[in-house]
Amino acid sequence: MPSSQQNLSQTNHKEIVKQLIKSKVSLAPMAGITDYVLRSQVKKYSPDCLLTTEMISSEFLAQARASVITNIDENHHPIVFQISGHKPHLMKAAAEMLSDKADMLDINMGCPVNKVVKGQDGCSLMRNPKLAADLVRAVKEGTDKPVSVKFRLGYTADEMNYVEFGQQMQEAGAEFITIHGRTRSQFYAGNADWGKIKALKENVDIPVFANGDIKSVEDAIKCMEQSGADGVAVGRASMGDPTLIGRIAHYFKTGEILPEPLLPEKLSMLKEHLDGEIKLRGEAVGIKFMRKFYPFYISGIKNAAKVRSVIVVEENYDKILGTLNELLKNNEWQNG
Ligand SMILES: Cc1cc2nc3c(=O)[nH]c(=O)nc-3n(C[C@H](O)[C@H](O)[C@H](O)COP(=O)(O)O)c2cc1C
Repeated sequence: MPSSQQNLSQTNHKEIVKQLIKSKVSLAPMAGITDYVLRSQVKKYSPDCLLTTEMISSEFLAQARASVITNIDENHHPIVFQISGHKPHLMKAAAEMLSDKADMLDINMGCPVNKVVKGQDGCSLMRNPKLAADLVRAVKEGTDKPVSVKFRLGYTADEMNYVEFGQQMQEAGAEFITIHGRTRSQFYAGNADWGKIKALKENVDIPVFANGDIKSVEDAIKCMEQSGADGVAVGRASMGDPTLIGRIAHYFKTGEILPEPLLPEKLSMLKEHLDGEIKLRGEAVGIKFMRKFYPFYISGIKNAAKVRSVIVVEENYDKILGTLNELLKNNEWQNG
């Protein structure tokens, strides 16, 4: 592309990214979690938030298993498709395949899982900034949409190269960053360090979303203050409360803190989630798939552990609903 055209596209992209992130909050990508159903729920309470798909492997796409991307609702916008991999030609091909459906394409440079980093994907890219930059360039060749990156503070506590790494990705053409305030060696242990993110924000010119451990509107406010970021990405906390992202977006828009949902609302969201997964995956698979969500929906109330231990092995839909109704009856004191 001639450099004048490239400059024009960069300017347009800057405006596009600004629009995509205007709610200042995104749903962080989570493999096996941020599927069509969860995204639909989050979208219901937060029409403007930036949604993210589950990570899509470029190797997987190359094997023509494009079925991974079939469950896409035309109304799910703005949406980022996250791709993973370490081979520039496959990343470019993945970008070409996904470009039409996405508003932005994101590259996974933060996944800490052994299998992923051993294959040179995910967070291992933070140890190979040259390859990571090549991936950014390759994805940009495959799409006319903005390209973003998601990474951590570094690989280990002794290798916190996130500021320089962010600059290198920007230099390669990345237009937006989400940073999880932990290192790869931490996995999910300890606390995300929102304060450290400030150094990145101050040293790049592209927008930065801070991520890690945001469980409430108050956390989001604190994270923004400490990191100076342009917004926040929320992962696990949206698993048991699809309203959280909407409540954060509402606060950023109006300054008003909306109350958390009470038990009856949470159980009705759980039911909606369960029904959605059953519709998507069939009854037997949908019921099993939902098991990982129960600890998030049902916690901090009387009999929570007991109820979870029952429904997590239950295979009958009506019995699950019956147990949830019992829970509601037994916790009526909470709702008055
Ligand atoms: C089950 C699970 C799956 C995840 N999958 C991905 C993924 O596919 N891509 C990615 O960039 N991050 C992934 N993450 C990391 C999250 O996006 C996020 O960075 C991390 O959970 C910290 O944010 P949180 O405290 O708000 O959950 C995953 C996290 C969890 C818990």
